[in-house]
Amino acid sequence: MTEKMSTHQAEEDQRNEEILIYLNGEILPKAEAKVSVYDSGFMLGDGVWEGLRLYNGTWAFIDEHLDRLFEAAKAIDLDIGMDRDGVKNAVLETQKANGMTTDAHARLMVTRGVKTRPFQHPSLSQQGPTMTIIMEHSRPNLPRPIKLATVPHIRGLPMTQDPKLNSHSKLNCIIACIAAEKAGADEALMLDVNGFVNTTNACNFFIVRKGEVWTSTGDYCMNGITRQKVIDLCRENGIPVHERNYSLVDTYGADEAFLTGTFGAQTPVGDIDGRQIGSGTMGPVTERIRGLYKALIERECA
Ligand SMILES: Cc1ncc(COP(=O)(O)O)c(C=O)c1O
Repeated sequence: MTEKMSTHQAEEDQRNEEILIYLNGEILPKAEAKVSVYDSGFMLGDGVWEGLRLYNGTWAFIDEHLDRLFEAAKAIDLDIGMDRDGVKNAVLETQKANGMTTDAHARLMVTRGVKTRPFQHPSLSQQGPTMTIIMEHSRPNLPRPIKLATVPHIRGLPMTQDPKLNSHSKLNCIIACIAAEKAGADEALMLDVNGFVNTTNACNFFIVRKGEVWTSTGDYCMNGITRQKVIDLCRENGIPVHERNYSLVDTYGADEAFLTGTFGAQTPVGDIDGRQIGSGTMGPVTERIRGLYKALIERECA
C-alpha cells in the first residue's frame, strides 16, 4: 500500500510548536490561543478564511486574497471589524512576532464571533467577529504525485453554499476526501452538478491534452488565485488554455494532470481512479508552468 499523503503536506518543522498566533488583536503563544465553544465558527462553521503564503519577505498576491476575503465577508453579511489595511497590518504584525521571512503559510480566519446562546440565528452573534491568524513555517514536501479518486459528492451550488465562498464549513469537501481515502486515493476529484470534472476537495484541477491546458468553466469551483495565475501565465506564454466542460473520459486520457493552490502552487497528479495519467510522473507542460509560476513569484516577491 502506498503511504498516506495529502496535498498540504509539509516538512516537519519543530519551530511550529513555538509559533505565536493572532487572536482578536493579541499575539499569543499557540497553547494560549483559544476561542469560546460559543464561537460561531466552532458551533456552525459560520465564517470565512484565506490561505496566504510568504516568499522572500512578501505575502504573495495579498491584494487578491484581501479582495476575496472582503467579498466573501460581504456575501455572508459579516463585518470583519477592520479595513483592508487593518487586516494587512495584522498579518504583518503576526509575521514580525514570529520572525518569519520566507516559506511560511498563514490561515487567516474570521467568524461571526461568540454567540449569546447556542443556536443558529446570526443575530445571536453580538460580540463582534473573531479573527485569528495561524502562521506556520512551511515547505511543501510531496514524495510522489497525488492519487485521486472520483467521488459522488459535489461542492456547493451557486444557490446553496456558493463554491466561491471560502467558508469555514468544509463538510462536503471533507466527506469527499474521506470517500477518496477509503477508495485508496489521497484526495477526491469532484464533478459538477452536470457530471463534468470540476475540482478536488482542496485545490483547483487542470489536465493537459496534446499540449493544451484544460480546466473547468469555473462556475462550480473556488475562484482560486493560483488557478487564475496559471491561466494568465498560459495566455502570456503562448500555451493554449481553455476553461471548458470536460468529462472523466477526457481526464483519464489526458497526458498530464495537476492541481493548483496557494500552498502547493502546482502539484502533479499521477493516478485517477486507478488509471495512470500520462507517465504517472510530472509531465513537461506541468513542469513548464511550475517554472513560469516560480518566476512570477520571484518577480512579485522580490
Ligand atoms: C476548495 C478549494 N479549491 C481551490 C483552492 C485554491 O485556491 P487558491 O489558489 O486561491 O489558494 C482552495 C483554497 O482555499 C480551496 O479550498
